[in-house]
Amino acid sequence: MATAKPKYYVTTPIYYVNARPHLGHTYTTVAADAIARYKQMRGFDVLFLTGTDEHGQKVERSAKKNNESPIDFVDRVSGEYRELWKELGLRVDRFIRTTETRHAHAVQHLFREIQNNGYVYKGHYEGNYCVSDEMYIDDSTPGATCPECGRVTERVKEENYFFQLSKFEKPLLNYYEQHPEFIQPEARRNEVISFVRGGLRDLSISRTTLKWGIPWQGDEKHVFYVWSDALTNYITAVGYPIKKDEFNRYWPADVHLVGKEIIRFHAVYWPAFLMAAGLDLPKKVFAHGHLLFQDEKMSKSIGNIQSAQPIVNVLGVDALRYFLLREIVFGGDGSFSREALIARYNSDLANGLGNLASRTAAMIGQSFDGKIPKAADLAPQDKELATIAEESIAQVLAQYDKFEFSRALESIWSVIAAADKYLTTEKPWSLSTSDTDQQRRGTILWVTAEVLRIVTALAHPVMPESTSKVWKLLGQPGSLGAQELDSLRWGQLLPGVALGQLQALFPRVEKSEAMERIEAMENQSQKPAAAPTPAPAPQPSVTAAPASAPAAGEKIAIEDFTKVEMRVGQIQTAERIVGADKLLKLTVDIGSEIRQICAGIAQFYEPEKLIGRKVAVVTNLAPRKLRGVESNGMIVAASVGPEGRPVLAGFLEDVEVGARLK
Ligand code: MSP
Repeated sequence: MATAKPKYYVTTPIYYVNARPHLGHTYTTVAADAIARYKQMRGFDVLFLTGTDEHGQKVERSAKKNNESPIDFVDRVSGEYRELWKELGLRVDRFIRTTETRHAHAVQHLFREIQNNGYVYKGHYEGNYCVSDEMYIDDSTPGATCPECGRVTERVKEENYFFQLSKFEKPLLNYYEQHPEFIQPEARRNEVISFVRGGLRDLSISRTTLKWGIPWQGDEKHVFYVWSDALTNYITAVGYPIKKDEFNRYWPADVHLVGKEIIRFHAVYWPAFLMAAGLDLPKKVFAHGHLLFQDEKMSKSIGNIQSAQPIVNVLGVDALRYFLLREIVFGGDGSFSREALIARYNSDLANGLGNLASRTAAMIGQSFDGKIPKAADLAPQDKELATIAEESIAQVLAQYDKFEFSRALESIWSVIAAADKYLTTEKPWSLSTSDTDQQRRGTILWVTAEVLRIVTALAHPVMPESTSKVWKLLGQPGSLGAQELDSLRWGQLLPGVALGQLQALFPRVEKSEAMERIEAMENQSQKPAAAPTPAPAPQPSVTAAPASAPAAGEKIAIEDFTKVEMRVGQIQTAERIVGADKLLKLTVDIGSEIRQICAGIAQFYEPEKLIGRKVAVVTNLAPRKLRGVESNGMIVAASVGPEGRPVLAGFLEDVEVGARLK
């Protein structure tokens, strides 16, 4: 009988919507995505949850400051998070918002259970509160600063419902003792244990001084304290309390991934709530460190923000994922710098994986008609490389199991380096065309391609987009993400398989130019978004200029121009589109890849005369469909005369395909 797949449920914190997403939020979500992909490749039925935390004083105030109603405000910012994860291609299964009705029911239900079990009472809280961290600060004098973020706290005196956290001191300590894997890494575990040993005070779990929250049923002047509301998201998302089958399937979560500053909420308060309600505890809470930028924790209030999109626009999403998980040891703090990012990109990706893939494919293309060659008996140096690759499999899986991404990538890249060295020593290109030499060349290239197949599969959880391209390049069937890592072995590469299309995976970038572009885009994106304006009254029908186009003669800043990426492209194929007289469907080589672009030039250019022509291409436009045909870029042309006849922009000197227009 076929056994059902085991489940794996991974979560990120749900992010506050008081500010837009930055690289710190992306860091956790990308790590969770890599875990989700890895577990999927280990045969699990994975559920990956993220979402937004939308209640509380901080959000209420941010909405007010922005002149928006709380609900409009949270809809907008939550949408930005959701869009960003989509843009980055993350395989999020569920996105939860704490303003959903089902979540209000779950919170009310959970705390009613806790109350029925005798762990809730009404009392008065008098003390300090940090709005930025949405955290009560006990034992402090009025006006004291928050020990977490250093901001001045606010004095709070109000009637609250309290949770008897003090009753859970011993049960929690016992639990930590019996489940040493529950809090990780070890340093965080020790920190939590000493905090609990220091004594736990009862926790206020409702507020009466704000409205923007989930009402306490039967006592509606109270709303739930934002953390009691937020933590419950992890069970709401899997059906609590209504969808019992689903809840029983996915709960308890296998891991809550969090930043270290919120470990206490996840490793003390949350398990205590669950114990009080008689529910199972998550299997693991893993707290990673902070991403520092210019030596401080990246945060909106400090103003040292880098967001993901400029990096992705310039270097691609996998470059960002690789950097975050390779450069920073998961669990510790780590610095982000644009310089280090680009250095790693050029050395590890352009010269490393990218170069190995394109060299291998090009040689197989030239000498074996684009088909994987057959290996003869392996020589000792071939076997040595085979052993390195084969042994890396178990090693990398063990490192991924412990979320040691940086070490796993280091192991994978040491195999890439060994393959590079092997090629340099074996020099397949210098062998003659004699039968013996051709056979030796086949063996060398089969060995190299097999190494490439193995490292590609192993790197997939971290670099899904580019490894999928290499997988196709190697002519491998099916989607790489659906492959089972447990069946990955040396020697599975079949000879005779035709290679796919060669694409430049990571074109080398010039450091200062790439840094400038990332910085310019970042500065542009940090400009405050225009306050929402009421929709204009309908106008009589006129041809409107695109909403964002400046009026004729109006000047734009250089950053506006640098947002447009233009490259030299070379037209490879051109054909008419049935039913669209004005459009031609082109494939254009832009250096790093081949793009399909539709151009409205069919009435003025013969398709066959365009082949080989070099043109200017706008390469960073969002893809769109024209007459049902996908167009991924735009060809630049002058618009001449009253009928706007297109005349393609070109170059008098010979220019390299892929060169940037500036
Ligand atoms: N809403 C709460 C979490 C509730 S979970 C039930 C919250 N939100 S937050 O928007 O402040 O997000 C905090 C989380 O974002 C961190 O725990 C971490 O996962 C991520 N990060 C935000 N900035 C970060 C860095 N500078 N570095 C690393 N991670 C960071 O707290």
